[in-house]
Amino acid sequence: MWTIFFTIILFGSRIEGVPRTDVTVSGLSSGAAMTAQLHLVYSSTISGSGILAGPPYYCARGNSKNVDECLYGPEKSIPVEELISQLQSYASAGTADPTSNIKNDPVYIFTGKYDPVVFPDVVKLNAKVFLSFGANIKPNYEMHATHGYATENFGGSCEIPDLKYFINNCSFNLAYDVLNHIFGGNLTKPGQSVPLTGQFITFDQPALMSPESGGVSKD
Ligand SMILES: *[C@@H]1O[C@H](CO)[C@@H](O)[C@H](O)[C@H]1NC(C)=O
Ligand SMILES: *[C@@H]1O[C@H](CO)[C@@H](O)[C@H](O)[C@H]1NC(C)=O
Repeated sequence: MWTIFFTIILFGSRIEGVPRTDVTVSGLSSGAAMTAQLHLVYSSTISGSGILAGPPYYCARGNSKNVDECLYGPEKSIPVEELISQLQSYASAGTADPTSNIKNDPVYIFTGKYDPVVFPDVVKLNAKVFLSFGANIKPNYEMHATHGYATENFGGSCEIPDLKYFINNCSFNLAYDVLNHIFGGNLTKPGQSVPLTGQFITFDQPALMSPESGGVSKD
C-alpha cells in the first residue's frame, strides 16, 4: 500500500534576511516519512518541507511491529515525546544536525479526511514534533480527500483512492499550496496551462535496496 512520491528541490541562490529556501524536501505517504526524516536530521541543509499523508519521524522506533499503528493509529499509542527526545539524543551525539536549525522553518502538513492508508490523527503528530522545535507549520487537514496527491484538475475522484497513481482531482492545487508556504507565501499560482520547465528525475528504488529488504517495503 505504501507508495513513494518524493521530490527534492534545490536552488543555488540565497537571499539574505529571509529564511533559507535553497534546499527543501516534500513527499507523499512513505515519501512523507522520508521527508520528515530528512528535514529533521539534515536541518542545517534542508530548511523547509511538505509532509503529505505520512507518519511522524521515528514512528516505528526501529521495530516492524509498530508499523501498523504508524498507519492506522490509535495515535495515542504513538509516544510523541519519545520520538522528539530520540531526535534530541541523535543531535547530542552528533548523528543529527542541531535541532536549533528547525526554528522558523516552514513545514506544510497535509492529510485528507478520508485517508484510509495513513490515518489523519497519525499524520497530525508531525505537527507536534515540528512545533516542539519551533517550525512554522501550515496545516491542511480539512479536505474531503483520500490518500493521494491532490490536484486541481487531474486524476481520480478526490475521495476514492487511485491505487495506480495516487493522484486525485480535488479541485485544489496542493503542489502550489505547499511550495507557496515553503517559499514565503508570495508565489503566483499558475493558470490553466503553463509550460513545464525544470527536470523530473525518476529512479528505480529496488536498485538502491539491499536484497534482504526487497519486497518488504519501498521506503
Ligand atoms: C475534476 O473535478 C471537477 C470537480 O468535480 C470536475 O469538474 C472536472 O471535470 C474534473 N476534472 C477531471 C480531469 O476529471
Ligand atoms: C509579499 O508581497 C507583498 C506585496 O508585494 C510584500 O509586501 C510582502 O513583503 C511579500 N512577502 C514576502 C514574504 O516576500
